[in-house]
This record gives sequence, C-alpha cells and structure tokens, in this order.
Amino acid sequence: MNKKVLAIYYTQSGQMGEIVDTFTSPLVDAGFDVEKVLIKLVSGYEFPWTGKRFFSVMPSCVLGIPEPLQPLELKEQKYDLVIIGYQPWFLSPSIPANSLLHDEGFRDVIKDTPVITISAGRNMWINSYVRVRNMLKEAGARLVGNVALLDKHPNPISFVTIFYWMLTGKKDRYLNIFPRPGVSEQDIAATVEYGRTVARHLQNNDWGTLQDELIEQKAVEINYKLMFIEARAKPIFMAWAKIIAKRKNRTPWLSAFKYYLFVALFLGAPVLLTLDAIFLKPFSAKRINRNKLKYLQVIN
Ligand SMILES: Cc1cc2nc3c(=O)[nH]c(=O)nc-3n(C[C@H](O)[C@H](O)[C@H](O)COP(=O)(O)O)c2cc1C
Repeated sequence: MNKKVLAIYYTQSGQMGEIVDTFTSPLVDAGFDVEKVLIKLVSGYEFPWTGKRFFSVMPSCVLGIPEPLQPLELKEQKYDLVIIGYQPWFLSPSIPANSLLHDEGFRDVIKDTPVITISAGRNMWINSYVRVRNMLKEAGARLVGNVALLDKHPNPISFVTIFYWMLTGKKDRYLNIFPRPGVSEQDIAATVEYGRTVARHLQNNDWGTLQDELIEQKAVEINYKLMFIEARAKPIFMAWAKIIAKRKNRTPWLSAFKYYLFVALFLGAPVLLTLDAIFLKPFSAKRINRNKLKYLQVIN
C-alpha cells in the first residue's frame, strides 16, 4: 500500500503554500499519497493587515491562546508522515498553528507518528520552534525533521519590508529601493532538495539521521546575532503580553508595545550586540555551541 503523507499548513500570502508544494513535490514524484490541507480558523485573520490589527494579536500569540478551527476533514485517521508548515508570530507559534496543535482530533492524528516541521518567518523562529517542539512532544508525536526558512536580509531591512508586505499584501520591492520581503525564490526552490532527502527516509522508514542530513543541506541554520536578540526579547514579550492581556482598553498599551519594538530593534539590539561582542561572546563559545545544537536538533 502507498505510504500516506499529510502536509498541513497555514498561509496568508500564499508563501507557505508555495513552500509546501515545492517541498512535497519529490514525495509526489516518488509515488507517495500526499494530502495537502490548509488550516482555516472559524474567524480568520484578514490579509493584508492594518497596523492596529497586526499588533492586536500579540498577547494571544505570546500567551498561546488557541482559537476554534474549521473542521479539518482529513481523508485518513493515520499517516506515515505529517508535515506541518507554520509561521512565527511575535516569537511564538502563529495563532492558527497553535490552535492546530491544541486541536484534540489533530493530536490523535499525530500521536506516535513521524512529524516534520517547516517554518517560514522573517528571521526569528527559534522560540516558536521550541514551543512547537514541546507541543508535539506533549501530543506524543515523533518530531523527525525541522526546516526553518527565513528572510536573509539584514534584520533592520527585513523589519521594514515585512511591514510593507503585511500592510499592503504586496511581496514586492518597497519604493523600488528595498529588497523583496519574505523567503527568497531561490530558498523556496531549494526546498525541493530537502524534500528529496525526506522522500528517501520515508521510503526506508528510517528517520534516525534525517535531521543531520537536513542540517548538512542547510535546511536549518542558526544565526548567532538573531539567536541572541530573540533570547533577550522572549521574556520581555511575555511581560508585555501579560500586562496587555489584563487591560480593558488595550489600544494605548499595544501602541506603547509597538514603539518599544521599534526602539528595541533599531537602538537596543545594536547596543546589546556590541556589549555582548566585547564582554560575553568571546568567553562563551561552549555555551553558544550548546545552544545552537539545542535549536538545530529535533530532540528536546
Ligand atoms: C502578526 C505577525 C507577527 C509576526 N512575527 C514574526 C516573528 O516574530 N518572527 C518572524 O520571523 N516572523 C514573523 N512574522 C512573519 C511571518 O512569520 C511570516 O513570514 C509571514 O506572515 C508570511 O507568512 P504567510 O504569508 O505564509 O502566512 C510575523 C507575521 C505576522 C502576520
């Protein structure tokens, strides 16, 4: 009997759809039954966003509050492999991804099943990945591979272009000066190679070395500076989320968070990175490598 693969994902712009199509094409070519399912929430998020709506989801993302999904209507109850395509939102699993991983029916589907995660964010994916990995473990799934795709332009540049993209819906060059936002066409095309690797492992039903091969192929890489910034931002986002969630009128607080984010990124991050480069990083090689390994691996 043909092996069955479920590729389940969320996307607003269509970027993740393109990634899932490319990544799974070698599995289709190899003759596996690939079922692709787009997650939909009962009350979804309009795209493009307005600035106000964009920031309004921050507390629910960070606090991991799920929302009702539209019924999944999967063809099978069990699969040989499940691929989950998700986005980081505010350093956390996006609300649709978090809702999926809280869905009892879906948790039954992934229990005792090999799972591969693919994220496609701006550039800060580590914390959301750790949370997804923990949720998969709680659900009894077997995470066998992770691919992390991102926008490789410098952090301040992609910060500008992601807002242009998210607030206009146009994945093109802002003012004809900035680069295109999101995951590059080249990086999306490269996922076909990762898919080939997965197809081989699925054929042999041998998952032990998949992640090592994906790391070798650079399907997932850790950028030290981004890891550093994200680690510092994580508890601060949590503090903001807890404060804002308690407010009756969230608007001024969300606005304050927005300004905090701009200042933190354009001012705070360069200062902290400079201090780190002088006082900490030169003496922390072992710890840094340990952390990198922790995030590259699929085992927690
Ligand atoms: C509300 C919101 C918050 C986001 N926060 C992050 C983030 O913290 N880190 C990151 O790398 N990307 C972030 N992004 C970018 C998304 O991960 C993703 O790349 C983008 O939304 C395009 O995905 P899609 O069109 O396939 O849904 C955010 C996007 C949205 C809409």
